[in-house]
Amino acid sequence: MRPISYLTLATLGLALTGALLAAGCNRDTANVPAKSAANTPPPAPAAVTGLDEHSYAEPDKVKTKDLALELHVDFDKKELSGSATYTLDWLDPKWGKLVLDTRDITVEKVVGERADGNWRDLTFVQAPADKILGSALTIAVPERNKRIRITYHTSPNASGLQWLTPEMTEGKKTPFMFSQSQQIHARSWVPLQDTTMVRFTYTAHVTSPKDVMVLMSANNDPKAVRDGDYSFEMPQAIPSYLLAIAAGDLVFKPTGPRSGVWAEPTMAPKAANEFSDTEKMMETAEKLYGPYRWGRYDILVLPPSFPYGGMENPRLTFATPTAITGDKSLVSLIAHELAHSWSGNLVTFARSRDAWLNEGFTTYVEMRIVEELYGKERADMEKIVARNELKEEFTNENLDRQPLAVKAGVLKDPDDNLTGTVYTKGAWFAEFLETRFGRATFDAFLRGYFDHFAFQSITTEQFAEYAKANLLDKYPGKVTQAEFDAWLNESGIPATAPQVTSPRFDAVDAVRKAYLDTGKLPDAATVSKWTTYEYVHFIEGLPQTMKPEQLAALDSVFHFTGTPNGEIAQRWYPLAVRSGYTQANEAIAEFLGRVGRRKLIMPTYGELVKTPQGLQLAEQIYAKAKAGYHPITSGSVEQVIADAKAGKTKD
Ligand code: BES
Ligand code: ZN
Repeated sequence: MRPISYLTLATLGLALTGALLAAGCNRDTANVPAKSAANTPPPAPAAVTGLDEHSYAEPDKVKTKDLALELHVDFDKKELSGSATYTLDWLDPKWGKLVLDTRDITVEKVVGERADGNWRDLTFVQAPADKILGSALTIAVPERNKRIRITYHTSPNASGLQWLTPEMTEGKKTPFMFSQSQQIHARSWVPLQDTTMVRFTYTAHVTSPKDVMVLMSANNDPKAVRDGDYSFEMPQAIPSYLLAIAAGDLVFKPTGPRSGVWAEPTMAPKAANEFSDTEKMMETAEKLYGPYRWGRYDILVLPPSFPYGGMENPRLTFATPTAITGDKSLVSLIAHELAHSWSGNLVTFARSRDAWLNEGFTTYVEMRIVEELYGKERADMEKIVARNELKEEFTNENLDRQPLAVKAGVLKDPDDNLTGTVYTKGAWFAEFLETRFGRATFDAFLRGYFDHFAFQSITTEQFAEYAKANLLDKYPGKVTQAEFDAWLNESGIPATAPQVTSPRFDAVDAVRKAYLDTGKLPDAATVSKWTTYEYVHFIEGLPQTMKPEQLAALDSVFHFTGTPNGEIAQRWYPLAVRSGYTQANEAIAEFLGRVGRRKLIMPTYGELVKTPQGLQLAEQIYAKAKAGYHPITSGSVEQVIADAKAGKTKD
């Protein structure tokens, strides 16, 4: 059976049911051609149906219980090819179709298993692609087969995969490939119900060139033989955004009995040293929130083009190599990804607009782990930096993004959801509850919450209801419903937010003030004892723009320009750009060319594009860096450049 083009179907009115046609575009009709829109009932508002506004799937009708992948990794074609077999749970006994999310995927064949064990062709149609959501794949399944198999291959431009040539790796000998599925990129490498409302177990059989090691967010064997033939099993049900794969010249180094790092050979020892506290972090989290339920906890260190700091793929956190600084100063990243083993991977947000349930509680737990292992002083410094940035981020232009409970329709692209609201305000809310109810009570509550909703996806409303019963009503007189609701529904930072202070930051403030008031440069011996967050705080308290000579003078003491520390670079370079400190341009170009982690480089691109010369430099840097960037990062950079250009033509 050949795939039928959407247009052919629509024009010829072929013998598929009206339901099948309509299903091809049941969301965002504004983005599909008028012809198909005419056949489409108006989309039901997600808030009413309770469905996920970023998926075409219909999890209230049919759910994937298990996914079995058979894939081949082809580095020459930059392609994954093979099949996906779905075991389905038909919730609606009268339903006759399966709608899956896809993006840039070529579907070759779809078959369904009959009661007699034979597999028969099924009719399918792929709707025109929406820029953000991709294309709905609708399969007619009148017999509601228990198992369906799709044969397919990915596009070299799959938004959820990055393919690196050997030159782009550390070792320069072996190619590399990795996925980044969150938020809605799994659909670019596997057709699936790409919504957190569906959880499934999975198995995978993956073949690759013999010299390449393949890993997945599943049971990776530290002793696996490298032979190009790998099998995986993930017995715990996960949402699609936690599906992950990586392939390259990867070796393993243990950091504990059930933890370790995977990295390219030259990186592996450095990574194992940097992350040597992993086991202690696990023990700390377990003491607070109950056993770690996922078996092993390994960390895969990726090339610098990894678009995020970390990604909590179950059993195998993916991490940026920029977290490896030699002094463990950025290992809170591991505490964060590990914390997702409870908040996120165990209890998952139901819709992207509930993301604070994942990231807010995870950031709170991250801080608890940091406090336990590295002391309250350090945790408080990290909090103050984040909270100061949150205050900067909140403006009159983004009032609708400031409540924790974001309204339906506000969040267009779920990739744009790494906001201060979700992380910092979310964690601050948890700390507010902790402060009011007391640590012992709140710890017990959170542990109970993780157990109660384990392996489920929940909405903000469900959390609020649970908290009312198990916290507010159970311990009356501590927090009023109005105080609680203000955090969820109001913009800005609630008046009830607990404040922290840091004597070490006070000292940094004094050094900065002395310099700004009198021109007296800080004493090198004093500042050499500072930690990353003290440097960050120093830079963030400097004026918006300064004289280039001043920045040069500061550089003579701090050597910020050219720093290997991305947390410092991401704050120093925007100031350098705003101040016309052109001596830093070379280092800026080097940094933006080498690192692809979005959070670290976007602030500098954002400043560059504000002036014509800066825009030109940004375009030059990007033209060179593009080949090495991940599609997610390229997308963000291109957007910033395009917006700047559009802004210019308006003037
Ligand atoms: N799950 C996130 C990454 C993410 C969020 C990817 C939303 C796509 C959409 C991960 O746990 C995370 O928060 N990473 C942070 C690091 C952390 C230390 C704050 C990052 O990448 O910056
Ligand atoms: Zn996170």
